[in-house]
Amino acid sequence: MIYDVVVVGGGIAGLMAAIEAKSSTNRVAIITKGNLFKSNSSLASGGINSVLDPYDYVEIRKHINDTFTSAAGLGDKKSIEHMCKQAPRIIKKLVSFGVEFDKDDNGVIVQRSFGGGSAKRTCYVGDKTGAAITQALIKHAKSLGVQFLVNNFIMNLALHHSKVSGVISLRRFDSSVVVYPAKAVILAGGGYAGIYRGFSTNAVDYTGDLLAVALRAGLRLQDMEFVQFHPTGFAKSNNLVSEAARGEGGYLVNDEGKRFVDELERRDIVSRAIAEQIENGKKVFIDLRHLGKELIEKKLPSLYKNAFLQAGIDLSEELLPIKPVAHYTMGGIEASNGVNTDIKGLFVCGECAANGVHGANRLGGNSLLEGAVFGELAGIRALAYSRAKDFYPIDYSKVIKDIELVDKIFDKDTSKNFNAMRISLGNMMFSNVGIKRTQEGLEKAYDYISYLRSEVPTLHCIGKERTNNVELVSILELRNVTEIAEAVILSALKREESRGAHFRVDHEETNPKYAESIVVQELKKGILRVFFKEHKLLYKIRKIFNAKTN
Ligand code: FUM
Repeated sequence: MIYDVVVVGGGIAGLMAAIEAKSSTNRVAIITKGNLFKSNSSLASGGINSVLDPYDYVEIRKHINDTFTSAAGLGDKKSIEHMCKQAPRIIKKLVSFGVEFDKDDNGVIVQRSFGGGSAKRTCYVGDKTGAAITQALIKHAKSLGVQFLVNNFIMNLALHHSKVSGVISLRRFDSSVVVYPAKAVILAGGGYAGIYRGFSTNAVDYTGDLLAVALRAGLRLQDMEFVQFHPTGFAKSNNLVSEAARGEGGYLVNDEGKRFVDELERRDIVSRAIAEQIENGKKVFIDLRHLGKELIEKKLPSLYKNAFLQAGIDLSEELLPIKPVAHYTMGGIEASNGVNTDIKGLFVCGECAANGVHGANRLGGNSLLEGAVFGELAGIRALAYSRAKDFYPIDYSKVIKDIELVDKIFDKDTSKNFNAMRISLGNMMFSNVGIKRTQEGLEKAYDYISYLRSEVPTLHCIGKERTNNVELVSILELRNVTEIAEAVILSALKREESRGAHFRVDHEETNPKYAESIVVQELKKGILRVFFKEHKLLYKIRKIFNAKTN
């Protein structure tokens, strides 16, 4: 099957993109690696930021300023202004697609506080906002005729010179490598916080696959060192305790019953404060008892239920042990003008993209907004591009290479345990590339990753059954994970300062000299170059030069 537009990723950004790219006559598909209902977007519980009145310029300016301040010198003003100004319209659009935000007795959408915000501007559906939005969007996309191709693992982009001509995918059902030709492709496949396996709110398959695909296609990754640690994960399961709990007035207390931080500070500050308590041998809890059972059940129903089911805790009477966990990654595929890339016909949006909206640190509640606003923009651009262009040829030599890679993984035997490698990689990343970093720890992590990268080509499936072989996908993911982890570590080593979510114990100050993004490029297979991004003017000249030589 061929498509006018292929969207990779089924979270809020991908869904908005597909809806916008669909016309009454064209063919649009959403491709997902796994379960459509388990995207990070659907797990983002607490809400979506927006000023509701589009003419309240003072409040919109405050939203812009909060976002820009949180980005710690690396925010892109144009992208941030675009996002915050579009927000009121986007909320209306979501409502028109069937999202039922919580309202007061007068039918007005209610809003809660989120960390780092100077006003209450987070709209919500109880504490399952992301799930409510994605379900409404899935329904709407289906009603428009968008096709859903689930259980497809994207191995590479199909390119014709520097233009996209489709995607090369592993169909998980039968392990066959297939091509989906497309005039335009939108990458919207989420971030890489899942590489902190065992210490992340993300599903384990958030392995930064599309970033690795982009790197292999010659694109650059930006801001990779900035990993956001959410202050509150369930201590045992890592599942998210939504910021909504603190937004509704919940406290953080240690085992002496003392509050030790302003709960509504930015996430990096709260996470570091908790990490310090834990370093000092204390346990940390979320305390909702003073809110009363009625409010907890009304505003935080999922959390109330999950605390009971997962930890046997009644939040109206007991404290819930929590810990900070990797939650969101600010780094991604370098985007210009919001969603464009250096490959013609290829657009990026959502967590896998770096468009400068979050810079060094994202505000809670801005991820669903960013996904919706830039997903919509990517869909509009992809539709216009696909209308103006024809299909470009598929380079089948690249497809054959991917078929050979799959065959090689099946053909030989191994005694190596790649699952154990993923687990120890998660441990190593959290310990050495976590909330607090040092040169020594980062170098240790780099050595470990270099070792793992040399091991990956020697990994093979133990089970040779080609139907739904989970080992095959795990090995391909590990290949991506090691590349992405290396990009994170090298960027973190290069940034010899503390900024936003990146905290270096050996360089605690923010250094104005480093007020620029770091980008990562693959020079040749497996060799990464990491450097501070050139000035905007130089970047433009390089783009013009590339366009002329292609
Ligand atoms: O805590 C939360 O509900 C997460 C929201 C977000 O990451 O924006």
